[in-house]
Amino acid sequence: MRDIESKQDIQIMVDSFYDKVNKNELLSYVFNDFSKVDWDVHLPKMYNFWNTLIFGKPDYKGNPFASHVDLPIKEEHFQNWLALFTENMDELFEGEIAEATKQRAKSIAGIFQSKLAFMNNQNR
Ligand code: HEM
Repeated sequence: MRDIESKQDIQIMVDSFYDKVNKNELLSYVFNDFSKVDWDVHLPKMYNFWNTLIFGKPDYKGNPFASHVDLPIKEEHFQNWLALFTENMDELFEGEIAEATKQRAKSIAGIFQSKLAFMNNQNR
């Protein structure tokens, strides 16, 4: 197995990750039923997001956290999301970049989760 080398590799990673998301009942509900995500818009956004994070390309502009504030997501959603992300990466790529990307995903998921938990406590 080889490492992630290009934006094309990122597309492979993102496409197969969201295939798994769509087969996961808990997550598919949020993306497809609750948010009614337009995949033709979301997937290219995610190629850009990861291309910016991994290769420092200025493709993604936005505020990723803001899109998650009103979603019905809690700890178990993040656990599923991260498990699928890691599993997907391990199936496809191997190397320093793949490792760093899993780490990055874990850290962002942790930040999202604790920000959401904090906000929910504030609003109670
Ligand atoms: C419980 C886990 C998660 C769920 C259910 C979830 C769901 C969603 C949904 C429904 C959207 C909005 C799509 C749309 O309507 O356009 C979105 C956007 C996005 N998500 Fe997540 N997400 C999760 C975790 C994460 C994590 C951990 C990351 C980063 C590593 C992430 C990165 C993004 C980005 C970059 C966007 C696009 C924001 C923009 O519009 O600029 N998500 N997510």
